[in-house]
Amino acid sequence: MAPESLYSIRMRSSKGDRHVSGAERIVSRDKIETVVAGLVPRAMGKGCAPDKTIITIESLSGLSLKRLAALELVTLRVRNVEEGRDHASRILGAVGVSEHSALSAMAQLSRGAAPSGNSMRGAMIMDAETGERLEHDRERGVRASRFDWSEEAVDETTKMLAKIGLTHFRTVEALALATKVAHGPGIVAELCWSDDPDYTAGYVASAGLGYVRFPHLKNAGDAKGGRVFFVRSKKINIDALIRYLEKEAALITAPPVCRPEISIDEYFNQTRQ
Ligand code: COA
Ligand code: AMP
Repeated sequence: MAPESLYSIRMRSSKGDRHVSGAERIVSRDKIETVVAGLVPRAMGKGCAPDKTIITIESLSGLSLKRLAALELVTLRVRNVEEGRDHASRILGAVGVSEHSALSAMAQLSRGAAPSGNSMRGAMIMDAETGERLEHDRERGVRASRFDWSEEAVDETTKMLAKIGLTHFRTVEALALATKVAHGPGIVAELCWSDDPDYTAGYVASAGLGYVRFPHLKNAGDAKGGRVFFVRSKKINIDALIRYLEKEAALITAPPVCRPEISIDEYFNQTRQ
């Protein structure tokens, strides 16, 4: 379907100045009412009732639309957070993120990467080699937006993920976000763990690595989370990257290859083959 007949629907809810939840879809005109109705319980359904919910319905007419295949997904078996972060750092190293940058990114996410000491409202952009932070606003960061699954791909993906025990809505949404980000101009890799205290899983992702999931990248009860987009700053136009991430639309039209859970040794053995 052409961008002219598609709409970006974005929901965000807040209580006071605190963000409570957000979600977004890309759909054709005839699906708008149903999709908006589906987002309302999402906005109201969290433990903390929002006092404001904003739903934006915006035509994609005149915008570019990328069609992408989902990143291949694999889960790495880890026993605890230390092992998870250690393995995540090794895998980031394999695509050119220096140990210094990976450790600095993790330390900043752990303590709250915004200058206020809170989690940021979006992602850091970090030089993969030096660890220098490049986003214009360190409290806000950069938010990937205007992406979704096509209807066929999301049904197939949800089934495939359920077969390997991944039924949380966050997995399917994070996989779409990571797929869009991985195809950004100049992106080397992404690192993420959630700010939801009940959700301990996280991932590293890139076009080459796929989406490598870790059941533990932070401890239960920890509300500090965030995302880091690693780039080669000498080679990229940062404003073009931010425009791609925030404004250009992406539809994920092919489901991922889903691999069973493996150990780090199996992961590197399979990668070498
Ligand atoms: N954390 C904190 N504040 C947030 C926020 C977040 N994650 N997302 C939005 N806000 C608040 C901020 O105050 C923001 O102002 P800012 O730009 O100065 O930070 C304000 O809402 C407007 O945000 P904006 O992104 O312009 O709103 P939008 O209605 O166009 O889109 C979202 C809102 C939440 C749908 C979009 O930003 C987003 O994150 N989309 C991806 C959702 C998703 O699938 N995530 C997967 C997670 S697993
Ligand atoms: P979540 O996966 O929703 O728990 O978000 C984890 C962290 O990622 C948040 O604390 C933000 O720092 C960051 N973040 C949230 N939404 C986005 C987005 N759309 N793009 C980039 N980073 C985001």
